[in-house]
Amino acid sequence: MATTVLVGAQWGDEGKGKIIDVLTEQADVVVRYQGGNNAGHTVEVGSEKYVLHLIPSGILYPGKLNVIGNGVVVDPLALLEEIDHLQSRKIAVDGNLLVSDRAHLVLPYHRLLDGIREQSNKIGTTKRGIGPAYSDKVGRTGIRMIDLLSPEKFSVKLRRKVRETNEIARTFGQKPLSFAKINADYLAAGKKLRKYITDTITLLNRHERDGRQILLEGAQGTLLDIDFGTYPFVTSSNTTAGGACAGSGIPPHRIGRVVGVMKAYTTRVGEGPFPTELLDEQGATLRKVGSEFGATTGRPRRCGWFDAIATRYSVMLNGIDELAVTKMDVLDAVPKIKVCVAYKLDGKLIDTVPADVDDLQRCLPVYQEFDGWQTSTKHVRDFDDLPKRARLYLNKLAQLSGTKLGIVSVGARREETMFL
Ligand code: GDP
Ligand code: IMO
Ligand code: MG
Repeated sequence: MATTVLVGAQWGDEGKGKIIDVLTEQADVVVRYQGGNNAGHTVEVGSEKYVLHLIPSGILYPGKLNVIGNGVVVDPLALLEEIDHLQSRKIAVDGNLLVSDRAHLVLPYHRLLDGIREQSNKIGTTKRGIGPAYSDKVGRTGIRMIDLLSPEKFSVKLRRKVRETNEIARTFGQKPLSFAKINADYLAAGKKLRKYITDTITLLNRHERDGRQILLEGAQGTLLDIDFGTYPFVTSSNTTAGGACAGSGIPPHRIGRVVGVMKAYTTRVGEGPFPTELLDEQGATLRKVGSEFGATTGRPRRCGWFDAIATRYSVMLNGIDELAVTKMDVLDAVPKIKVCVAYKLDGKLIDTVPADVDDLQRCLPVYQEFDGWQTSTKHVRDFDDLPKRARLYLNKLAQLSGTKLGIVSVGARREETMFL
């Protein structure tokens, strides 16, 4: 397996965790390179279900190295909680997890600011402090993992940030934060995390040179990318394949393969335009059959038909070599399935995603309709054994998106997967 980047090709929750888990078998190292605990990646192994937020989904395979790269924003308390949770379920973490010393921290004032900003400028964030943490990183006032290991330095930087945030908190009538408490809590967390923190950049490059198989696990999805997504209704990082290099330290020419994960329909959580959204009974059915509720916040996901304009944009931006189409089984009982093949904007047909969200908001989907297969695909393990109409539908999704089909998933569990 060449060094592989796996990205979400829609608005997140495409089933990246499941596909990472399946691909981890062939990998030696799994790396998260952006986002933070806004992500919720679900992996089902046998009767056990795990939701990973910060730790790469490869952790469930014994003996694989999992790396939280420099591009991730890490809430130390959330990370410790996740480590404890996995350990309580007998998943080995020590020796299998490393965290970049350059990763930026998410601290309580980031969550406070996330909440305040949501009041006046609603994005529908996960309120995990992700946007404010990345703002500090870019604004050069961030605090990093390495700082957590130098108590004095950490305290000086933290004091400044808490003072600054408390001014804002007061303006918005919020309770000010206690420097002393945050300082004590996070320095204690730093002590516990010390054994995981290292120079992951040199280490990853060494592994790569030694021929070890590296799998880079994207979070969120292409249409939530800070540059290419439906701005401002996006997350604050580069979720696209380009972000994998910046967020891990692996050079671009070392990436050999890009896998794009997409659902056989579309979902979105939070605010923002969604041209194929179904606000009717059909949307409610997809939500129910697909259990479309957020893995991080529990919010109901907005559901709609497959949008081939969005996925073609995704294939282009990420250089997707191979598609992993998930949740085919959710469409098993749908008699007529629609796919958006163009947008109509002010009477004109377009086949690209407009830069202005107000334009995208006004885009009407132009659909092509497919007959459903109306039989269960849950137990199918070979592409050729899928009903003819299901194969036709899948081939059409790949053709419209402009790339080839690599993996089809018909259930949340490892074995409910077929490779082409
Ligand atoms: P991620 O954020 O991209 O990792 O996706 P989430 O875990 O947030 O959401 C995907 C959901 O779909 C999870 O509950 C998965 O267990 C589930 N899932 C993944 N693949 C399939 C599939 O092929 N069929 C069904 N029915 N569920 C799936
Ligand atoms: P995974 O990795 C789906 C959405 C939020 C909101 C916007 C900004 O599980 O696919 P943020 O908290 O990041 O500032 O929120 O992005 N969002 C996601 N939607 N899946 C995710 O992650 C998401 N992470 C953030 O709902 O609309
Ligand atoms: Mg998710």
